Amino acid sequence: NEDELRQLIQRAKDTLGDQLFIPGHHYQKDEVIEFADARGDSLELAQKSASTTAKHIVFCGVHFMAETADILTDHDQHVYLPDMRAGCSMADMANINQTEVAWDQLTQLVKGTMIPITYVNSTAAIKAFVGKHGGATITSSNAKDMMKWAFERKEKILFLPDQHLGRNTAYNLGIPLEEMAVWDPILETLNYEGDLDDLKVILWKGHCSVHENFTVPNVYEVRAKHPNMNIIVHPECKREVVALSDDSGSTRHIIETIENSPAGSEWAIGTEMNLVKRLIKENPDQHIISLNPHMCPCLTMNRIDLPHLAWCLDSLKNGEPVNPITVSDQISNDATRALNRMLIK
Ligand code: 13P
Ligand code: SF4
Repeated sequence: NEDELRQLIQRAKDTLGDQLFIPGHHYQKDEVIEFADARGDSLELAQKSASTTAKHIVFCGVHFMAETADILTDHDQHVYLPDMRAGCSMADMANINQTEVAWDQLTQLVKGTMIPITYVNSTAAIKAFVGKHGGATITSSNAKDMMKWAFERKEKILFLPDQHLGRNTAYNLGIPLEEMAVWDPILETLNYEGDLDDLKVILWKGHCSVHENFTVPNVYEVRAKHPNMNIIVHPECKREVVALSDDSGSTRHIIETIENSPAGSEWAIGTEMNLVKRLIKENPDQHIISLNPHMCPCLTMNRIDLPHLAWCLDSLKNGEPVNPITVSDQISNDATRALNRMLIK
C-alpha cells in the first residue's frame, strides 16, 4: 500500500543520504514531488544536475531529461529513470537519421548560412548533431535569448523538434510567419511558398501532444464564461492559441506569474495537468482553472509514480540498481558542446 511505499522510499533516502539526488520536473505527480530534492523546469533541472556531486541521480521526469543529466555529470555519477517507459512523444518525433537527411537536403536547398538549434526535448544523438554543427540546445525559458544568439552567428535556423515553440519564439523576435517554413521529416519536404532568400526559420514538424490539446475553441469558451479571466499558456501551444491568450511563457514563467498575482486573480492555464492542479492547490486565494476543462496530463511523465520510485530507490539501496541511463562518450562529448553553449551563456 501507499504508506509502505512511502516508508520504503524514505528508508532508501535516509540510507543513501547525500549520495542520492532526486530532481523532479514540475509536471510530475504530487506523490513524486513529495520526495524530490529539487523541483524545477527543464532548464533548472539541467543546471542542478550539472552541479550536484551526488553519486546517484534518480530523475523524476522523462527520458531526455535523464539523458541530459547523464551528459552533464561525471563518469562516477549514475543516472536512473524510475520507469523506462517515461519518454516524450515530442522528442520521439525527430530521430538522428531524419535529422541528417534534413540537414543534407536543406543545406543544398537553402541559400545562406544555417545553424541547427534543438529544444532540450530531443534525444542525446540530436543534441550531439547540433553540437557538432555549431548549434545549441534551448529550453522554453531561454528560447528567445538562444534564438537571438543563433541569429548572431548564421542567417537561418533549423529548429528541432517543436514547431510551435520555434514559431512562437521567432514571432516574438519579430520574424514574420511568412519567413518561416516547416520541414516534414516523413515526406522529406519543405513546406514553403515564399522566396528561399527570405526564409529565416525552418521548423521541424513536431509538437507536444499535451499542449496541442489547448485549442482556439477552449479560449473562446473561457472568454464567454469568465470575462475577467486571464489566459496564460505554454509556448508549446499552437500559434493561434498563444496569439489569443493574454500571456505565454515557460513553465517557470507561468509559475512565477501565478505566484506574484494578487488574491482574487483569475487564471485559465494552458499547460500540463499536474502543474495546473498544484497551482490551484497552492494558490487558494485565486480562481484558477485549466484552459481545457478536461485537463491535460502528460501520460509519459505520469508513468513515474510511487511504486516505480520505490522500486528504483530500493534497488539502489540494495546495491543492484535498475534502469540506468547511459549516454555513450562520443555522443556525450558532442552533446555537451550544445548544452554548454546554453548553460554558459
Ligand atoms: P519546460 O520545463 O522547459 O517548461 O518544458 C516543458 C515540457 O514540456 C517539459 O517536457
Ligand atoms: Fe514531452 Fe509534451 Fe510530455 Fe513535455 S509535456 S514531456 S513535451 S509530451
